[in-house]
Amino acid sequence: MVTKIHEAGAAASALEQLDRADVLHGFSAPCAQASNEVVVVREAKGMRVIDERGREFLDAGGGLWCMNVGYGRPSIAAAAAAQMEKLPYFHSFGNFSNEPMIRLSERLLKLAPAGMARVVFASSGSEANDTQIKIIRRYNNLLGRPLKKKIIARLSSYHGSTVAGASLSGLPMMHKTFDLPIPGILHTLAADYHRRPVDVTTPEAYTRHLINALVQMIEKEGPETIAAFIAEPVTGTGGVLVPPPGYFTAIRQVLEHYDILMVADEVITGFGRTGNWFASPGLDIKPDLISIAKGLTSGYFPMSGCLISSKVADVLYADKSADAMFAHGFTWSGHPVGAAVAHANLDLMEAEDLPGNAATVGDYLLSRLLEAFGEHPLVGEIRGRGLLIGVELDGDRGARRPFADTHRVGGFLSRACFEERLLVRGGHGRVLAAFAPPLLATRADADEIVTRFGRALDRVSTNVEAAGLAA
Ligand SMILES: Cc1ncc(COP(=O)(O)O)c(C=O)c1O
Repeated sequence: MVTKIHEAGAAASALEQLDRADVLHGFSAPCAQASNEVVVVREAKGMRVIDERGREFLDAGGGLWCMNVGYGRPSIAAAAAAQMEKLPYFHSFGNFSNEPMIRLSERLLKLAPAGMARVVFASSGSEANDTQIKIIRRYNNLLGRPLKKKIIARLSSYHGSTVAGASLSGLPMMHKTFDLPIPGILHTLAADYHRRPVDVTTPEAYTRHLINALVQMIEKEGPETIAAFIAEPVTGTGGVLVPPPGYFTAIRQVLEHYDILMVADEVITGFGRTGNWFASPGLDIKPDLISIAKGLTSGYFPMSGCLISSKVADVLYADKSADAMFAHGFTWSGHPVGAAVAHANLDLMEAEDLPGNAATVGDYLLSRLLEAFGEHPLVGEIRGRGLLIGVELDGDRGARRPFADTHRVGGFLSRACFEERLLVRGGHGRVLAAFAPPLLATRADADEIVTRFGRALDRVSTNVEAAGLAA
């Protein structure tokens, strides 16, 4: 059907009105919804997203850090359609199974870091992390350690939006009005070198500072009460934080010493984002449990999972008690269409070596950003790994001081990027533009990101100046 331009505009505004009337959007203030611009996304191809008004955006945020293979891949649509015709749904409770899920499990265990033995499926990253908590509790119950249940997460982390996922997350906005976190979740310091204390001057000293804080927390709580430590290998939503060298090696030594499980939340970093299939091995993380989602299907279908090491699985499988049933799962766990989509997605990632491309184009984008904005008066730090890169703005870059009103300047930045038709992810409690474009990005795409971002930064400078917020 061909729609004339003015009809498209009218249809778009009718949709926007309906949205304002009917939808409560997450991560948006309901009171602002009546006046907020609604962006009704209509279609997308490769790295480009088009809205109902016909505006085209360069999606440098990969949707929500999840669009790894790029939009509009026909082989994924075909795989979904074929599977829907053959078996559109069946559950995986009890002894029911399906071939795409079985073969996906085998494939994931081959791709995963060493030591992973089993997969349990869910639909979202939050559900995967909720599942991890239940696995961890059960593991310690089976080992006869009923006190060993607390989980240490980190400040500035994001682990999801469910009651448990939000509790694990280290962002105050996820807790404040929801009476969270739930008991038994603790938060230690983030590995945030840019915001290190003023008297810490080297990455090595900073790692020692972080490790001391962790050890103090474990000792204060009692090691017999601490079950697990959960971390994103490279923090995403909370600020694109790349750990200092040696950080996870030192963390591992502490966890091994106190017999604490390591959960790697690879929901963003898994499936090529940081230049490898998984980020853990390159950072010397040896996880006992891994959460996966997002890039598993590149967002074409909601699917997630927990990868369980043999260390943990052996305990679960040895249980022959009256309570041996693993009473956990979701209607959509191991969905055959999701699994078929995941296979088609992984086929593309393998055939096109998208992790390799993320490494080379990621290095290129990082160096271009450093070259263009490394000395910019508003830019505090540019950091990243693979195609997961953040540019953080400071109110006073010399003193590494953030803006006093991060909310306001963050608003300038996201608005400016939007006006340049550049979609980025923002920071929470910091002024940040995060880049997580589809992994098929080319050098030309990286150049375009840099050009658009440069124009956006000019707008921010003007706004900061006009508002009298400059240092
Ligand atoms: C590291 C990490 N873990 C978990 C989640 C939660 O995933 P979902 O939104 O699919 O529940 C996210 C989402 O952004 C994430 O970035």
